[in-house]
Amino acid sequence: MMPSTTNPQLNRNGELTHLLSIEGLPRAVLENVLSTADAFAGVGDREVKKVPLLRGKSVFNLFFENSTRTRTTFEIAAKRLSADVINLNINASSTAKGESLLDTVDNLAAMQADLFVVRHASSGAPHLIASHLDRIGAHHIHVVNAGDGRHAHPTQGLLDMYTIRHYKKDFSQLTVAIVGDILHSRVARSDIHALTTLGCPEVRVIGPRTLLPAHVEGMGVKVFHDMAAGLRDVDVVIMLRLQNERMRGALLPSPQEFFKTYGLSPEKLAHAKPDAIVMHPGPMNRGVEIDSSVADGGQAVILPQVTFGIAVRMAVLSIVAGSGR
Ligand code: CP
Repeated sequence: MMPSTTNPQLNRNGELTHLLSIEGLPRAVLENVLSTADAFAGVGDREVKKVPLLRGKSVFNLFFENSTRTRTTFEIAAKRLSADVINLNINASSTAKGESLLDTVDNLAAMQADLFVVRHASSGAPHLIASHLDRIGAHHIHVVNAGDGRHAHPTQGLLDMYTIRHYKKDFSQLTVAIVGDILHSRVARSDIHALTTLGCPEVRVIGPRTLLPAHVEGMGVKVFHDMAAGLRDVDVVIMLRLQNERMRGALLPSPQEFFKTYGLSPEKLAHAKPDAIVMHPGPMNRGVEIDSSVADGGQAVILPQVTFGIAVRMAVLSIVAGSGR
């Protein structure tokens, strides 16, 4: 691997030492996460014991924003790697009394943390923590972004790639459509960067003009505003939640109107290839972006995505913890 001097996620040997964003990561780094996850896929099943790769290490889950899937699967992943896991209860922590993010980090670093898994409503918060740790010389502490604002959700992107590769084997012939609120979606950004890096030849985004970022074509995607045209002959459909908490002003007439035009119903899904898979990062809003008959139907792989997230997060934790700086 080529040495990196510019990407703060890579050490001088080009190895992943923090995971902050998929943007700018070399294809080999992404492929290494996916192949490492293969090795972990069975760990924790009844017949496979935990592995000791993170024994003696402390993983701190710092979730400043709500989560069901990401927080829990990071905890399971860290425990299967034999780490000690500390889930900071943000509402009951000194953050609620006005302590700054970096003061909280300094105090947790003083408790001999080895890894911070960070979710934050502000884009760039994990990056800020990683730079701060470098500045104070805490080079042994690694940071994994568990979702920051509308910027990035790299482990979701990686587990989505793992899911697609599991069902479709190879990215080189695929057409993938990402549908809905692209503007506010960190998952969309991470998926687009991952798909284009892994060689997917056609990535489409489908949504109303008000929910697409300006100049999104610059990310290497084709833009559609019509579901029938955008879903035609696709192999993979990734539905997104309307991120109401990040919307400013009225970007939509109503959720019912959105569902009529962009909600994934069986009729709209029929435009995709017959063996197309349907994905959703969760949490789902049934009847807003997806019809229950599709969410629970034979083409949906939404719950397998969650399960694959454990192996992928084991891979990420073990890779970054195993890297020096
Ligand atoms: N996909 C995802 O990030 O879900 P949570 O918000 O439940 O973690």
